[in-house]
Amino acid sequence: MRSRGTFVLLVLGALTSYYIYSPLPEDIEERWKLMFTDCLFRSLSHLADFSELLGLSDYMSVMMLVTFAEKVVPLSDERVRVESERFDGVEVLVYQPRQDVGAGERRRAVIYLHGGGWCLGSSRMGPYNDLARQMVTELDAVVVSVEYRLAPPHHFPVPFEDVYRAVKHFLRPGVLDAYGVDLDRVAVSGDSAGGNLAAAVTQQLQLDPEQRVKLKVQALLYPVMQALDLNTPSYQQNQHMPILPRTLMVRFWSQYFSSDLSLFRSMLSNEHNGPDSAALLKFVNWTVFLPESYRQMYNYTAPLVDGGKAGSLPDDPARSIIDPRASPLLVPDDMLHALPKAYVLTCEYDVLRDDGVMYVERLRLAGVDVTHQHYPGGFHGALMFTLWPTDFAIARQMTKNYLLWLKKNL
Ligand SMILES: *[C@@H]1O[C@H](CO)[C@@H](O)[C@H](O)[C@H]1NC(C)=O
Ligand SMILES: *[C@@H]1O[C@H](CO)[C@@H](O)[C@H](O)[C@H]1NC(C)=O
Repeated sequence: MRSRGTFVLLVLGALTSYYIYSPLPEDIEERWKLMFTDCLFRSLSHLADFSELLGLSDYMSVMMLVTFAEKVVPLSDERVRVESERFDGVEVLVYQPRQDVGAGERRRAVIYLHGGGWCLGSSRMGPYNDLARQMVTELDAVVVSVEYRLAPPHHFPVPFEDVYRAVKHFLRPGVLDAYGVDLDRVAVSGDSAGGNLAAAVTQQLQLDPEQRVKLKVQALLYPVMQALDLNTPSYQQNQHMPILPRTLMVRFWSQYFSSDLSLFRSMLSNEHNGPDSAALLKFVNWTVFLPESYRQMYNYTAPLVDGGKAGSLPDDPARSIIDPRASPLLVPDDMLHALPKAYVLTCEYDVLRDDGVMYVERLRLAGVDVTHQHYPGGFHGALMFTLWPTDFAIARQMTKNYLLWLKKNL
C-alpha cells in the first residue's frame, strides 16, 4: 500500500512538473532527455516538500533517495584496486592501478570530492566510481575519493573539516610514499559542492604553517563559491533550470549552515546578510568581475545587509556565511596569488556559472595560471550523467577535456 501511495505521489509530481515546465534553451543538446531527467528530479523534490509539509520526513532525507539509487559497491578488477580506508578517522575510497609502480618511479594522485550540495551524494555513486576508475587507468593515478559526513546531520564546518583532515593525512610524505605517489604531483578536485570544498581546502592548506607538501593543481568543476549574493545574473537567468533550480541551491546553502527554515527563507529573498557581510561584498561584486555580456541584461542591486532578517538568526549561520571555508570567493587578493595552477569548468545554464566565472577572474587578476573551460550548452551536474538512460554526450566531452587537462598539467 505504501509503495502505491509513493507511486501516486510521483505521478502527481511528474504531472505538476510538466505543468509548470518552462521550455529549455535551444542550444542544449539532447533536450528531451534532459526534460525527462528533470522530471524525475522535480517529482522527487515535490515529494520531499510534501513529506516535509506533512511532518513525515525532512526534505533532504527524501532527496537522499537519489544517492541510494545510484550507489554501487566499488570493487577491484583486473586493472584497478579499490580499498576502503580511514584517513585520520575519515572514510575514503582509494583507487590504485593494479600494476605496481616501477622501481624508482612515482605516480600522480587526485584527491576527489563529490558533489551534492554538502547534503547529498557519496563517493560510492556509480558516476563517481566510474570517474575514479577512468582517472586510474587514463592518468596512471592514485585516486582518493573522500566520504565526508553530510549536512543536515553534520552542518558546516564538519564536511569541510572531514575533507581537510583526510587531505592533510594523505599529504604526509610517508603516506604518499606508501602509495607510490610523487609528492610534487598531487591534485585536489571536485564538482559542485565538492568544487567548493576543493577550493576551500586549497586555500586553507597554504595558510597552514606546518604544511610541507603542496598541491600541484586544483580542478574545480562548476563549483559553488559564495553565499553572499544569491542573485547574480546566472542565478537569475537559470532560476528554473534543471537539475539545480535556484530554490534547491538555496536550500543546500541554508542546510549546510542550519536546519532553521528561517535561514532558507531569508536566503531565498537574498536578505540573509548580517552587518559583517558589508565589508566582503566587494569580493562578489559582479558588476566588477563578470564580462559585459553577462551583466548587461541585469541591473545590480547590492544584497541587503542587516535587513533585520539575518540579525534575528543565531550567530552561527551569520558567521558561517562569511567564512571563507564556506565561501572561498571571499578571501582578499593576497591569499589568491600563491595558489596552485587551476582548472575551472563552468556551464552557461547553471545558477553557479557566475560563481565560477568570478573566481576565474579574481585568480587571473591575482596572477594565478587558470584554464577556464566554459560550455555554452552545458547545464549543472552534466559531468555526472554518464550512465544509461540519463547519459549525455556533453558529459563524455567534459570528462575527456577535464582528464586531458590533468594529463598535461598534473
Ligand atoms: C560594485 O561595483 C560598482 C562599480 O562597478 C560600485 O558602484 C558599487 O558600489 C559596488 N558595490 C559593492 C557593494 O561593492
Ligand atoms: C535596468 O535599469 C534601467 C534603468 O534604470 C531600466 O530601464 C531597465 O529596464 C532595467 N533592466 C532590467 C532588466 O531590469
